Amino acid sequence: MRYLILSDIHANDEAFAAVMNSTRRKRWDKAVCLGDIVGYAAEVNQTIDRLRALKPLVAIRGNHDKVCSGVEGEERLAKFSRFARIAAEWTAQKLTHGNRRYLSSLPRGPRLVDGAFAIAHGSPLDEDAYIFSDIDALRVFRSTDFPICFIGHSHFPVVFSWDGSDVKMQMATPPEFRLKLDPDKRYLINPGSVGQPRDRCPLASFATYNSETRLLRIHRVRYDIAKTQENILSAGLPVPLAERLSVGR
Ligand SMILES: [Fe+2]
Repeated sequence: MRYLILSDIHANDEAFAAVMNSTRRKRWDKAVCLGDIVGYAAEVNQTIDRLRALKPLVAIRGNHDKVCSGVEGEERLAKFSRFARIAAEWTAQKLTHGNRRYLSSLPRGPRLVDGAFAIAHGSPLDEDAYIFSDIDALRVFRSTDFPICFIGHSHFPVVFSWDGSDVKMQMATPPEFRLKLDPDKRYLINPGSVGQPRDRCPLASFATYNSETRLLRIHRVRYDIAKTQENILSAGLPVPLAERLSVGR
Protein backbone atom coordinates (compact mmCIF):
# COMPACT_ATOMS: atom_id res chain seq x y z
CA MET A 1 0.00 0.00 0.00
CA ARG A 2 1.27 3.47 -0.91
CA TYR A 3 0.47 6.12 1.67
CA LEU A 4 0.40 9.89 1.31
CA ILE A 5 1.27 11.41 4.69
CA LEU A 6 0.29 14.98 5.45
CA SER A 7 0.67 16.98 8.64
CA ASP A 8 0.23 20.52 9.93
CA ILE A 9 -1.47 22.00 6.88
CA HIS A 10 -2.64 24.93 9.05
CA ALA A 11 -5.18 26.37 6.61
CA ASN A 12 -2.53 27.01 3.96
CA ASP A 13 -4.53 25.79 1.00
CA GLU A 14 -2.01 27.17 -1.53
CA ALA A 15 0.64 24.84 -0.10
CA PHE A 16 -1.84 21.95 0.16
CA ALA A 17 -2.94 22.39 -3.48
CA ALA A 18 0.71 22.41 -4.61
CA VAL A 19 1.36 19.20 -2.66
CA MET A 20 -1.65 17.52 -4.25
CA ASN A 21 -0.56 18.70 -7.72
CA SER A 22 2.86 17.21 -7.18
CA THR A 23 1.35 13.86 -6.20
CA ARG A 24 -0.29 13.40 -9.59
CA ARG A 25 2.89 11.62 -10.63
CA LYS A 26 3.54 10.06 -7.20
CA ARG A 27 0.61 7.71 -6.97
CA TRP A 28 -0.89 6.84 -3.59
CA ASP A 29 -3.60 4.48 -2.33
CA LYS A 30 -4.50 6.07 1.00
CA ALA A 31 -4.11 9.54 2.47
CA VAL A 32 -3.20 10.02 6.12
CA CYS A 33 -3.42 13.32 8.01
CA LEU A 34 -1.66 13.82 11.35
CA GLY A 35 -3.70 16.84 12.46
CA ASP A 36 -3.49 20.64 12.66
CA ILE A 37 -5.56 21.07 9.54
CA VAL A 38 -6.33 24.67 10.53
CA GLY A 39 -4.84 27.51 12.60
CA TYR A 40 -2.30 30.20 11.49
CA ALA A 41 -3.26 30.76 7.82
CA ALA A 42 -6.55 32.02 6.38
CA GLU A 43 -7.84 29.40 3.91
CA VAL A 44 -9.79 27.55 6.55
CA ASN A 45 -12.77 25.92 4.84
CA GLN A 46 -10.99 25.44 1.49
CA THR A 47 -8.30 23.42 3.27
CA ILE A 48 -10.77 21.24 5.18
CA ASP A 49 -12.86 20.70 2.04
CA ARG A 50 -9.78 19.66 0.07
CA LEU A 51 -8.75 17.24 2.79
CA ARG A 52 -12.21 15.74 3.17
CA ALA A 53 -12.30 15.10 -0.58
CA LEU A 54 -9.27 12.79 -0.39
CA LYS A 55 -10.42 9.19 -0.45
CA PRO A 56 -9.64 7.00 1.33
CA LEU A 57 -8.46 9.17 4.21
CA VAL A 58 -7.44 8.47 7.80
CA ALA A 59 -7.14 11.60 9.93
CA ILE A 60 -6.54 12.44 13.58
CA ARG A 61 -6.88 15.74 15.41
CA GLY A 62 -4.17 18.23 16.30
CA ASN A 63 -4.11 20.78 19.12
CA HIS A 64 -5.25 23.59 16.79
CA ASP A 65 -8.16 21.49 15.47
CA LYS A 66 -9.33 20.92 19.04
CA VAL A 67 -9.22 24.57 20.04
CA CYS A 68 -10.68 25.94 16.81
CA SER A 69 -13.61 23.51 16.87
CA GLY A 70 -14.35 23.95 20.57
CA VAL A 71 -13.26 20.46 21.71
CA GLU A 72 -10.96 22.30 24.10
CA GLY A 73 -11.66 25.79 25.34
CA GLU A 74 -10.08 28.65 27.26
CA GLU A 75 -7.68 26.53 29.27
CA ARG A 76 -5.90 25.14 26.21
CA LEU A 77 -6.15 28.44 24.34
CA ALA A 78 -4.33 30.14 27.21
CA LYS A 79 -1.34 27.86 26.53
CA PHE A 80 -1.11 29.00 22.90
CA SER A 81 1.30 31.72 21.83
CA ARG A 82 -0.32 35.11 21.28
CA PHE A 83 -0.41 34.81 17.48
CA ALA A 84 -1.67 31.23 17.59
CA ARG A 85 -4.44 32.34 19.94
CA ILE A 86 -5.51 35.20 17.68
CA ALA A 87 -5.52 32.83 14.69
CA ALA A 88 -7.50 30.18 16.59
CA GLU A 89 -10.18 32.68 17.64
CA TRP A 90 -10.42 34.00 14.08
CA THR A 91 -10.56 30.44 12.65
CA ALA A 92 -13.34 29.41 15.04
CA GLN A 93 -15.52 32.16 13.59
CA LYS A 94 -14.78 31.20 9.98
CA LEU A 95 -15.56 27.48 10.21
CA THR A 96 -18.74 26.33 8.50
CA HIS A 97 -21.04 24.30 10.70
CA GLY A 98 -20.15 21.10 8.83
CA ASN A 99 -16.42 21.71 9.02
CA ARG A 100 -16.55 22.53 12.72
CA ARG A 101 -18.36 19.26 13.27
CA TYR A 102 -15.80 17.43 11.14
CA LEU A 103 -12.86 18.84 13.14
CA SER A 104 -14.50 18.13 16.48
CA SER A 105 -15.19 14.54 15.48
CA LEU A 106 -11.57 13.76 14.53
CA PRO A 107 -10.17 11.03 16.78
CA ARG A 108 -7.26 11.42 19.16
CA GLY A 109 -3.97 9.67 18.34
CA PRO A 110 -2.33 7.26 18.49
CA ARG A 111 -4.24 5.22 15.90
CA LEU A 112 -3.12 2.19 13.94
CA VAL A 113 -3.37 2.40 10.16
CA ASP A 114 -3.91 -0.99 8.48
CA GLY A 115 -1.50 -2.59 10.92
CA ALA A 116 1.25 -0.92 8.82
CA PHE A 117 2.09 1.91 11.25
CA ALA A 118 0.69 4.13 13.97
CA ILE A 119 -0.07 7.84 13.74
CA ALA A 120 -0.08 10.52 16.44
CA HIS A 121 -0.18 14.31 16.32
CA GLY A 122 2.42 15.10 18.97
CA SER A 123 3.70 12.06 20.79
CA PRO A 124 1.98 8.66 20.93
CA LEU A 125 2.18 9.12 24.72
CA ASP A 126 0.48 12.53 24.69
CA GLU A 127 -1.12 14.08 21.61
CA ASP A 128 -0.10 17.58 22.74
CA ALA A 129 3.57 16.82 23.55
CA TYR A 130 6.45 17.59 21.19
CA ILE A 131 9.15 15.20 20.09
CA PHE A 132 12.15 17.40 19.37
CA SER A 133 15.16 15.43 20.57
CA ASP A 134 16.60 11.93 20.69
CA ILE A 135 15.80 11.93 24.43
CA ASP A 136 12.12 12.62 23.69
CA ALA A 137 12.18 9.84 21.09
CA LEU A 138 13.90 7.40 23.45
CA ARG A 139 11.16 7.90 26.03
CA VAL A 140 8.56 7.01 23.39
CA PHE A 141 10.48 3.97 22.12
CA ARG A 142 10.78 2.68 25.70
CA SER A 143 7.11 3.20 26.56
CA THR A 144 5.40 2.03 23.34
CA ASP A 145 5.82 -0.87 20.95
CA PHE A 146 4.83 0.59 17.57
CA PRO A 147 7.42 -0.48 14.99
CA ILE A 148 6.68 2.69 12.98
CA CYS A 149 4.84 5.78 14.13
CA PHE A 150 4.29 8.94 12.08
CA ILE A 151 4.10 12.12 14.14
CA GLY A 152 3.56 15.82 13.46
CA HIS A 153 3.27 18.91 15.69
CA SER A 154 6.91 20.15 15.66
CA HIS A 155 6.84 21.03 11.93
CA PHE A 156 10.36 19.56 11.56
CA PRO A 157 10.86 16.80 8.97
CA VAL A 158 12.92 14.27 10.89
CA VAL A 159 13.38 10.52 11.36
CA PHE A 160 14.27 8.96 14.72
CA SER A 161 15.31 5.31 14.58
CA TRP A 162 15.95 2.88 17.40
CA ASP A 163 17.93 -0.34 17.10
CA GLY A 164 17.25 -1.44 20.67
CA SER A 165 20.20 0.41 22.15
CA ASP A 166 20.75 3.76 20.41
CA VAL A 167 18.49 6.43 18.97
CA LYS A 168 19.63 7.96 15.70
CA MET A 169 18.18 11.29 14.58
CA GLN A 170 18.23 12.18 10.89
CA MET A 171 16.94 15.53 9.66
CA ALA A 172 15.20 15.04 6.33
CA THR A 173 17.16 17.44 4.18
CA PRO A 174 15.44 19.08 1.19
CA PRO A 175 14.62 18.75 -1.65
CA GLU A 176 14.05 15.01 -1.26
CA PHE A 177 14.95 12.58 1.49
CA ARG A 178 14.75 8.82 0.97
CA LEU A 179 15.12 6.04 3.48
CA LYS A 180 14.39 2.33 3.22
CA LEU A 181 13.10 1.36 6.65
CA ASP A 182 14.95 -1.50 8.28
CA PRO A 183 12.53 -4.18 9.58
CA ASP A 184 14.84 -4.71 12.57
CA LYS A 185 14.54 -1.10 13.73
CA ARG A 186 11.75 1.05 15.08
CA TYR A 187 10.91 4.51 13.77
CA LEU A 188 9.33 7.82 14.71
CA ILE A 189 8.89 9.82 11.53
CA ASN A 190 7.81 13.42 11.12
CA PRO A 191 6.89 14.28 7.50
CA GLY A 192 7.29 18.02 8.24
CA SER A 193 4.59 20.60 7.79
CA VAL A 194 2.62 21.24 4.61
CA GLY A 195 1.54 24.74 5.57
CA GLN A 196 4.11 26.20 7.96
CA PRO A 197 7.56 24.52 7.70
CA ARG A 198 9.98 25.50 10.48
CA ASP A 199 13.26 23.91 9.36
CA ARG A 200 14.42 27.09 7.59
CA CYS A 201 13.23 25.73 4.27
CA PRO A 202 10.01 27.44 3.15
CA LEU A 203 8.95 24.63 0.79
CA ALA A 204 5.84 22.61 1.73
CA SER A 205 6.82 19.28 3.27
CA PHE A 206 5.07 15.89 3.17
CA ALA A 207 5.89 12.19 2.97
CA THR A 208 5.04 9.11 0.96
CA TYR A 209 5.53 5.63 2.33
CA ASN A 210 5.23 2.29 0.56
CA SER A 211 4.50 -0.43 3.11
CA GLU A 212 5.57 -3.21 0.70
CA THR A 213 8.96 -1.84 -0.28
CA ARG A 214 9.30 0.05 3.06
CA LEU A 215 10.55 3.08 1.15
CA LEU A 216 9.96 6.40 2.90
CA ARG A 217 10.32 9.64 0.98
CA ILE A 218 9.99 13.15 2.35
CA HIS A 219 9.29 15.61 -0.44
CA ARG A 220 9.45 19.40 -0.62
CA VAL A 221 7.39 21.43 -3.05
CA ARG A 222 7.30 25.04 -4.09
CA TYR A 223 4.02 26.93 -3.73
CA ASP A 224 2.75 30.48 -4.07
CA ILE A 225 3.90 31.79 -0.69
CA ALA A 226 3.03 35.39 -1.63
CA LYS A 227 -0.59 34.38 -2.19
CA THR A 228 -0.86 32.69 1.22
CA GLN A 229 0.74 35.76 2.82
CA GLU A 230 -1.66 38.08 1.04
CA ASN A 231 -4.61 36.04 2.31
CA ILE A 232 -3.26 36.09 5.88
CA LEU A 233 -2.79 39.85 5.79
CA SER A 234 -6.11 40.65 4.18
CA ALA A 235 -7.84 38.52 6.81
CA GLY A 236 -6.27 40.81 9.43
CA LEU A 237 -4.25 37.97 10.98
CA PRO A 238 -0.91 38.84 12.66
CA VAL A 239 1.83 39.95 10.23
CA PRO A 240 4.50 37.54 11.63
CA LEU A 241 2.28 34.60 10.62
CA ALA A 242 2.71 35.75 7.02
CA GLU A 243 6.38 36.73 7.31
CA ARG A 244 7.60 33.45 8.78
CA LEU A 245 6.47 31.53 5.71
CA SER A 246 9.16 33.22 3.56
CA VAL A 247 11.93 31.88 5.76
CA GLY A 248 10.45 28.59 6.91
CA ARG A 249 10.58 29.33 10.62
FE1 LIG B 1 1.02 22.43 14.03
